[in-house]
Amino acid sequence: MNHSTSTSPRIALITGGSRGLGKNTALHLAREGVGIILTYVGNRAAAEATVAELQALGSKAVALQLDLANSASFPAFAQAVRTALQEHWQSERLTYLVNNGGMGMHATIEETTEAVFDELFNVHLKGMFFLTQALLPLLADGGRIINISSGLARFSLPGYAAYAAMKGGVEVMTRYMAKEFGARGISVNTVAPGAIETDFGGGRVRDNAQLNAFVASQTALGRAGLPDDIGAAIASLLRPDNGWINAQRVEVSGGMFI
Ligand SMILES: NC(=O)c1ccc[n+]([C@@H]2O[C@H](COP(=O)([O-])OP(=O)(O)OC[C@H]3O[C@@H](n4cnc5c(N)ncnc54)[C@H](OP(=O)(O)O)[C@@H]3O)[C@@H](O)[C@H]2O)c1
Repeated sequence: MNHSTSTSPRIALITGGSRGLGKNTALHLAREGVGIILTYVGNRAAAEATVAELQALGSKAVALQLDLANSASFPAFAQAVRTALQEHWQSERLTYLVNNGGMGMHATIEETTEAVFDELFNVHLKGMFFLTQALLPLLADGGRIINISSGLARFSLPGYAAYAAMKGGVEVMTRYMAKEFGARGISVNTVAPGAIETDFGGGRVRDNAQLNAFVASQTALGRAGLPDDIGAAIASLLRPDNGWINAQRVEVSGGMFI
């Protein structure tokens, strides 16, 4: 088996790496010398600002557009990744894939429309499945995949049924990916953040003081999560000497609803 990651530059592709948890993960990995290909869906200015921040840390970084809801675009996206690897790193392989991009929807089961359900499915489950399939030839043997789920796949709060059901699917898919990709030395784990202060879901956890206090009251460590809590955890799971954790769900929530 060719574990090419030990000699090649380490390069991570982070979907939704332009803002929030993906951006924070990129910053933590860049500080460890990992090159970054990040994606954004519509907010190009934020992606370019993040690339500039990463470059200021001395990291090579590139932003590519990707809509996870549009699986027909994945072959062309994989080609764009191939080109970026060649141009910026003279490399043919990614070391890490962080399947992170996505959006929140808050609706009770009664309120959830088929259109909302389909969008959540397309982005969070179908998109992650087929993007990983499209990028698999570009992922180095011995590489790593992190799939982002949510604490909401373990505990239940009203208004998140459809979203959390997709994240539950992500957790099952992670184990199957680990089973199949293990033959190439690729490990696959789920990271399930608790409620974190980002723009996610309209920035509710960060900006709604009542919700923020509720989250803090239900968290053993007594506060809502911050992006640095998640980026640091993902970067530590991706460290070269931390490679024996496989097919696991790692919840990073400060102990929410325990
Ligand atoms: N924050 C939380 O409390 C929390 C908790 C548990 C799990 N999560 C999960 O963590 C991940 C990141 O969330 P976040 O808090 O960082 O959210 P965020 O701050 O809103 O950032 C979302 C990122 O995903 C991208 N994105 C959105 N829709 C996309 C699509 N259709 N295709 C591709 N990329 C898309 C955005 O790109 P643009 O900038 O171009 O819009 C942005 O880069 C999501 O999977 C979310 O479900 C979040």
